[in-house]
Amino acid sequence: MDGVERERLAAYVRDEDKARFLLGVTITRRVLGVRFSLPPAKVSLDRTCFECGKPHGKVRADGVELSVTHSGELVGVAFSDQPVGLDVEKVDPGMDVDGVARVALSAAEVRELERYDGIAKARAFTTYWTRKEAALKATGEGLRGELRAPLAAGIQVQELEVGADHRAALAVVSAEPPVVRVESATALLS
Ligand SMILES: CC(C)(COP(=O)(O)OP(=O)(O)OC[C@H]1O[C@@H](n2cnc3c(N)ncnc32)[C@H](O)[C@@H]1OP(=O)(O)O)[C@@H](O)C(=O)NCCC(=O)NCCS
Ligand SMILES: [Zn+2]
Repeated sequence: MDGVERERLAAYVRDEDKARFLLGVTITRRVLGVRFSLPPAKVSLDRTCFECGKPHGKVRADGVELSVTHSGELVGVAFSDQPVGLDVEKVDPGMDVDGVARVALSAAEVRELERYDGIAKARAFTTYWTRKEAALKATGEGLRGELRAPLAAGIQVQELEVGADHRAALAVVSAEPPVVRVESATALLS
């Protein structure tokens, strides 16, 4: 890790947040280390926030587009040659889906949700949510973007299969649907 990452790691209070952050950093550095023929610690990453200048923004490296995400038991890093956004969320069965949907989803999506109940409704909401977050993370806007608007033209979003407890989506700023290859990081981390 670099100094910024060591400070970020130390600032997390909960062990699980530390673990998720550390995994994201490790996957990013090991993959880019191979790609750039550098030791992982020598890979130069920029985390400067466009809004406030603090090092909590979208992680950037020269010559590659990146997106990092963590939630629940999963951590993911996307690498692309086009601006990319990756979002994973653990499904929360106890969430107030209707309440959140009113502020976070488009009218058409709210109507779609009415077809579901219980955990299926929480899963459906989380699917929509990760699609939106992935798109907003691809453009770098984050949640400051307009959530209730339909997804912007020129952004391709694809759901990823990550099991029943989580939902995940990947977005690229591109006119063409992306070719997506999903790999486990287990071997990389061992
Ligand atoms: C940033 C944001 C998109 C993260 O989403 P999340 O679901 O809470 O968390 P995720 O685990 O999926 O994503 C976190 C990762 O997103 C990346 N990220 C941070 N800001 C980002 C942005 N504007 N666009 C894309 N990616 C961003 C970081 O790499 C971060 O991981 P890391 O710091 O461990 O490397 C979301 O919290 C957000 O939009 N926040 C509001 C924007 C904001 O407050 N910006 C700061 C202004 S001072
Ligand atoms: Zn900021």
